[in-house]
Amino acid sequence: MKLGRLNHIGVATPSIEASIVFWRDVMGATHIHAPFDLPDQGVKVCFVDTPAEGPHNGTQIELIEPLPGNESIAGFLAKNPQGGQHHMCFEVPDIHAAKAEFEAMGKRVLGAPRIGAHGTLIFFVHPKDMGGVLTEIMETPKEAH
Ligand code: CO
Repeated sequence: MKLGRLNHIGVATPSIEASIVFWRDVMGATHIHAPFDLPDQGVKVCFVDTPAEGPHNGTQIELIEPLPGNESIAGFLAKNPQGGQHHMCFEVPDIHAAKAEFEAMGKRVLGAPRIGAHGTLIFFVHPKDMGGVLTEIMETPKEAH
């Protein structure tokens, strides 16, 4: 496994609108993207930028609100009513190589690679195999945006 940049930290929330106010007014975020639906994953997402680090974009906060029928995020919010940290996402250069490496180490990859919120392939690794952290692995976008 070739560890890449921490692309984003996923934070589940019962209300993206309320979370935007928090990130803007309490945390001082100045670049908050427009929320959008990701129906394949049953979520509405909104990215909050942290400042760029040298030539790289800053790590983002990914606000996640469940769409109707998303039992996974709804279950998380049932246990954490005000929301909370949900996953961490690291970039890799080759998503299929990374999947094979995790599986060779006996880690449970959750489903086939699929298009994620940044338009590149992603997969999740089971938190019980990852020190309790739901881990998203994402192929690095080919060009900066
Ligand atoms: Co994510």
